[in-house]
Amino acid sequence: MSNTQSSTPSRNEALFERAQRTIPGGVNSPVRAFRSVGGTPRFIERAQGPYFWDADGQRYIDYIGSWGPMIVGHVHPEVLEAVERVLHKGFSFGAPTEAEIEIAEEICKIVPSMEQVRMVSSGTEATMSALRLARGYTKRDRIVKFEGCYHGHADSLLVKAGSGLLTFGNPTSAGVPVDIAKHTTVLEYNNVAALEEAFKAFGDEIGAVIVEPVAGNMNLVKGSPEFIGALRSLCTKHGAVLIFDEVMCGFRVGLKGAQALYGVEADMVCLGKVIGGGMPAAAFGGRREIMDHLAPNGTVYQAGTLSGNPVAVAAGLKTLQLIQAPGFYEKLAAQTARLAQGLSAAAREAQVPFVADSVGGMFGLYFADKIPASFAEVTKSDIARFNRFFHQMLDAGVYFAPSAYEAGFVSSAHDDAIIDETIAAARRAFAS
Ligand SMILES: Cc1ncc(COP(=O)(O)O)c(C=O)c1O
Repeated sequence: MSNTQSSTPSRNEALFERAQRTIPGGVNSPVRAFRSVGGTPRFIERAQGPYFWDADGQRYIDYIGSWGPMIVGHVHPEVLEAVERVLHKGFSFGAPTEAEIEIAEEICKIVPSMEQVRMVSSGTEATMSALRLARGYTKRDRIVKFEGCYHGHADSLLVKAGSGLLTFGNPTSAGVPVDIAKHTTVLEYNNVAALEEAFKAFGDEIGAVIVEPVAGNMNLVKGSPEFIGALRSLCTKHGAVLIFDEVMCGFRVGLKGAQALYGVEADMVCLGKVIGGGMPAAAFGGRREIMDHLAPNGTVYQAGTLSGNPVAVAAGLKTLQLIQAPGFYEKLAAQTARLAQGLSAAAREAQVPFVADSVGGMFGLYFADKIPASFAEVTKSDIARFNRFFHQMLDAGVYFAPSAYEAGFVSSAHDDAIIDETIAAARRAFAS
């Protein structure tokens, strides 16, 4: 069945029109609006395992998995049962629960370097709070981030590079005060020389360096081992807090995340997505010595009405248990690699300049000759061709991220038949 819009407006179209009357742009998060690929966003009615269905009843193989969280597939029976069990006991208390201790213990057990953790409700809160804590701990205001990494929408992080290495960062969003952006230095991802130069110039002013060690917000771009190693040694040398933003890559590139992948320990780690199992939960944590500066023990304020929400914690805790099943990550990584390799082979057959890459349950698709290592390299890929491919796949019932600047996600529910169906659809798309 094709999704091509006929002259009769589809339910998706009608809903989009209606949505735009009361919701800015018709969506509650910009990428959902399909602005970069064009066309009508699909309004999702329900999901199950590796699939979701839109308002017109069309089924899609889902390769965004709610942008990462749905690692065990949608509506996993054990996650559903865990949620149902707590639902009847109350939705939110604003007072501590035993389940919060359980998820904190589980996270600290799994994630290297994490001695203490504070739950929040979104990745944005996690990175914003981690930065405040790092600044409070080091008593330094300047932070460093990297072009193409997304860390949520806190003011300090919606910043792009100034005209030169030593110039102030500039806001990327209206409403972000220049006075805040000026404390953020933005460097090129995977550029060790620029990092060294920045530390040489103002190393004693840098409170924190925040990085997606495996970036998933400029398509998939892996940090090089040299880059990650340099981050660790320079932060240690200059007394800056190294923050790994693993909101996306945590529990995705492997059970223990990027720290284990690179054999490097961060001072603080931000988590989200998978730890909520599809519910609003995120966290930041790290060394006890740093975490001890957080209220109520310390002087860095941070709080949240819904932090550690019992329903979200139940979904997250069960998801964390499921991903520790023996062989879970071997299988997930193999399925994801099979997808990436199958798509690459299909493109080669049709002589389309296309490469794909994967790590754990994350993948990247690039209409380019080689796998990019920075945001600038991603921008050089053929975005128009990606947009055409996206719509061809959508018409064939495959939902990839609606932007060439996003990574994709595979779940443990994506079996061989589903991957093969995807590759077959891509072969037809490439051939046309
Ligand atoms: C690496 C990273 N950090 C932070 C965030 C922000 O998380 P949230 O959307 O939950 O605020 C995201 C969201 O995609 C992310 O990918």
